[in-house]
Amino acid sequence: MNEKITKPTLYDRLGGVYSIAAVVDDLIDRVMHNPVLNANPAVDEAHHRVSAAGFKYYVTEMVCWATGGPQNYTGRTMRESHKDLKITESEFAAFCKDFDDTMAKFNVPEAEQMELFAIVQSTKGDIVTSVSTDA
Ligand code: HEM
Repeated sequence: MNEKITKPTLYDRLGGVYSIAAVVDDLIDRVMHNPVLNANPAVDEAHHRVSAAGFKYYVTEMVCWATGGPQNYTGRTMRESHKDLKITESEFAAFCKDFDDTMAKFNVPEAEQMELFAIVQSTKGDIVTSVSTDA
């Protein structure tokens, strides 16, 4: 008995690209219309400059890649794409609330939610670049 029992990747446990794309579709709709995030002029400008479809494509590709799927992420780094947006702690918290609402809507199991949230959280240092007193 030397067969290794390997745990399925997070990508597989989430249901692969069709499930991940559906979750990202819902999350990005929330984020792009979130008044807390769009109160930041740089975020509002970028949210209206890029197409929702393209934005969803990149985020889906990134989540698939980061969860162990066969896709490659072809977008810019998190530092590069967010460096001019001056995102604050409280804006990041508003994003996390949207994330929680999407997880609840799709009934993503607790363990998978936590693993996915750990990926989101690992990007925070590159995304939150503004120290603000509004927190
Ligand atoms: C407060 C939180 C966040 C806000 C307001 C935000 C906003 C934005 C905006 C406005 C863009 C378009 C930038 C441009 O093209 O000029 C962008 C790009 C992107 N964001 Fe975020 N973001 C946030 C957090 C995150 C997180 C947590 C992730 C992933 C875990 C993420 C993934 C991406 C990806 C993959 C792109 C596309 C990169 C590219 O254009 O090549 N973002 N974000």
